[in-house]
Amino acid sequence: MSEYTAPAQGLDAVEVPEPGAVTIVVPTFNESANVRRLLHQITESVPARLPCEVLFVDDSTDDTPEVVREAARDCPFPVAVLHREEPVGGLGGAVVEGLRAATSEWIVVMDGDCQHPPSLVPELVATGERANAGLVVASRYVEGGSRAGLAGGYRVAVSRGATWLAKALFPRRLHGISDPMSGFFAVRRSAVTADVLKPLGYKILLELAVRSRPRQVAEVPFVFRDRFAGESKSTAREGFRFLRHLAGLRTASPVARMVGFGLIGASGFVPNLVGLWALTVLGMHYLPAEILANQFGVAWNFLLIEQLLFRDRRAHRRWWDRLGRFALLANADLLLRIPLIALLVGRFGMGALPATALALVMTFVLRFVGTEALVYLPRRRGSRARRAV
Ligand code: GDD
Ligand code: MN
Repeated sequence: MSEYTAPAQGLDAVEVPEPGAVTIVVPTFNESANVRRLLHQITESVPARLPCEVLFVDDSTDDTPEVVREAARDCPFPVAVLHREEPVGGLGGAVVEGLRAATSEWIVVMDGDCQHPPSLVPELVATGERANAGLVVASRYVEGGSRAGLAGGYRVAVSRGATWLAKALFPRRLHGISDPMSGFFAVRRSAVTADVLKPLGYKILLELAVRSRPRQVAEVPFVFRDRFAGESKSTAREGFRFLRHLAGLRTASPVARMVGFGLIGASGFVPNLVGLWALTVLGMHYLPAEILANQFGVAWNFLLIEQLLFRDRRAHRRWWDRLGRFALLANADLLLRIPLIALLVGRFGMGALPATALALVMTFVLRFVGTEALVYLPRRRGSRARRAV
């Protein structure tokens, strides 16, 4: 370590990237009508101010890669296409592959449909250098920026709502980022920890800001222009992906997961009560109706927990195995609560109300721990190997 102290003192000077140290990563999906124009715009505005190279990460089913290669001949900088046979993670997955492959000190991510002005690339990097930032976001929501190119009131409202929701869920980590939905940003390579990123769909900046947590963030205004050709690939399905992505990010820690588990559990009262009402209206006696209606709540909870909390931990058991275990735990919870309350009141002299509250909390924690351990914890390799012997 000490050997390196001396050179480290001069690091500041070394850290200013050599001119030419920006890799522009462009994710593309069927953008053959746009990429030539994009490369032309980059040629006009970037290399004279900041030498660059461009890396397309392509999942196209059209001839985008060929068009890029063809257009690259006229470019005074290196252009590469990384075509993926399997489009893992969609747009976000493509960007992460680009981040992994890039070798420059700075990486700028921008769309391939000319909605992002390449003339801003040198400014993003310069701002990052000046502010000593790890991440520089091109924002539509700071003075001088605009979202002119968001097609229609519906997209504007969705984008607004998504921004608000993300900021509300991550007030600290998104502090200083007015536009966490932006697809245009610069990152310092040392600030990216590609291995911790689990991108899901469009919102890669959100993923980066929350999981990689760059030490210092800066913003530059930009005007989100109209798409040059073709249509946005964002769909309602992307919207659901975004919600799942948010849930995944928010419940990455065990405590947050427990809170999520509790909220989902509480929401289960609704199908439970509606079911009870429907069954009794249909003439069922209230006791069997209680038991049956409880299963509606269980099914509801199971669906939400699977989709939002344990999405990436489902692979090691079949769905009916997970459902069976989950339902067993949920019903055991009911059965356990009554004797527990009796014990707290009878043995420990508690009042019925605090005893019930305490029993609720205790069985809730037990159920959460049980669900993690018995339904979603990957089985240990060792035990399987032993069984195999
Ligand atoms: N490699 C790859 N794989 N690229 C993709 C994929 C994919 O599955 N899906 C979309 N892209 C590329 C598109 O070809 C385009 O270059 C870029 O990602 C953005 O896609 P659009 O379909 O044009 O997205 P948008 O304009 O609706 O959304 C943009 O603006 C949003 C802000 O409102 C994106 O930048 C979003 O990330 C951003 O949130
Ligand atoms: Mn677009």
